[in-house]
Amino acid sequence: MKKCCHIVGARPQFIKYFPVFRATKEYNKKAKKNDVLQDILIHTGQHYDYAMSKIFFDEFGLKEPDYHLEVGSGTHGQQTGDILKHTEAVLQQIKPDIVIVYGDTNTTLGGALAAVKLHIPVAHVEAGLRSFNRHMPEEINRITTDHISSLLFCPSKTAVNNLKKEGFENFFNEGDLCDIHTFNSDNDKKFFNGSVPVVINSGDVMYDVFLDARKIAQRKSSILEKLKLQNKEFGLLTMHRAENTDDIKQFLELARFIRSYFKGKSIIFPVHPRIRKRVQQYKQDFGPDVIMLEPVSYFDLLMLLEACSFVLTDSGGLQKEAYWAKKPCVTLRNETEWVETLENGYNILMSDYKQINKFFANNNKLYGDGKAADLILRFLNNTI
Ligand code: UD1
Repeated sequence: MKKCCHIVGARPQFIKYFPVFRATKEYNKKAKKNDVLQDILIHTGQHYDYAMSKIFFDEFGLKEPDYHLEVGSGTHGQQTGDILKHTEAVLQQIKPDIVIVYGDTNTTLGGALAAVKLHIPVAHVEAGLRSFNRHMPEEINRITTDHISSLLFCPSKTAVNNLKKEGFENFFNEGDLCDIHTFNSDNDKKFFNGSVPVVINSGDVMYDVFLDARKIAQRKSSILEKLKLQNKEFGLLTMHRAENTDDIKQFLELARFIRSYFKGKSIIFPVHPRIRKRVQQYKQDFGPDVIMLEPVSYFDLLMLLEACSFVLTDSGGLQKEAYWAKKPCVTLRNETEWVETLENGYNILMSDYKQINKFFANNNKLYGDGKAADLILRFLNNTI
């Protein structure tokens, strides 16, 4: 039995962990006793409200975390430091063969640092993304996590190329997207000798989730009925980035942009707790056409996405989901890590907002084939 310890703590990480959790279960059904991968889950507690955390465990049928660190909120240093300290203590007990971290949050960085300092190899799912904006806490978390990881699972070719530019040299399948058949256990095991980090273009686990959950959401979600949105035209708005919410000038600018440019259009806005605080603090809202909700579940979000006619967001995940659902998306930022969505005409940055009506009926394998998690499992198992 090999021990794989997954570290999650913030909303998008529960979603990214889900396909890997499921692939592990499937793999274990057929595995010989010695090859079974024990799935150990640490929840740091970075997100703690029901609507930001537990709801995803319930919805996806995830197992309860084996360890809950309850670090909660704080400044970046404090939050990351608490995650590092508490994760280290737990890893010393578990002694896993590998630690898997997801995305770019303080949980990702704290978890990866704790592991690597104990000489436990780290696998980073969603490696290689760059905004080239070092004021974003997520950018610092990504760069640092990538450079201390042993297995770097990239969601796209752009991410692979970013790592090439930063000096990584060991690219599986020359950095091209691999599928489950590209990996040949006998030949390729040599590739993973543990001494040099390996970069793998696995595709995006978020696409795995999107493809599956899209069907389930139709059955499970009743949000459109609840909000009486059937046959209504509306946009979907989400916003939570620190650079948009913690700088009052930028926040007011965005609120003004939405009020004026989308005047008369209904907009549904599931509100992240960070924004709720700012709306109260700055005594500002987004105008009468914007309906503010509590954060919604993943299935509800997908139903809103399917039914909406456009998306406004600063979320990385929702930019891609809009692309996959073929909805035009205005990214409420000046740059994006998901540059392919811009090139393919589904996504525009706020500065180009006049082109919102551009809509290209083009969808391809930019982010893999929806089987990223199976591939990740194959590599994990052959590395440890
Ligand atoms: C974090 C990630 C970001 C990710 C986002 C998804 C970092 C640096 N940022 O940002 O990359 O896209 O999660 O949501 O890790 N809060 C609550 N209830 C909760 C969670 C948070 O009230 O359940 C409040 C906190 O008190 C804090 C604010 O929301 O004031 C922000 O939370 P924080 O964990 O710092 O980061 P996010 O903005 O959620």
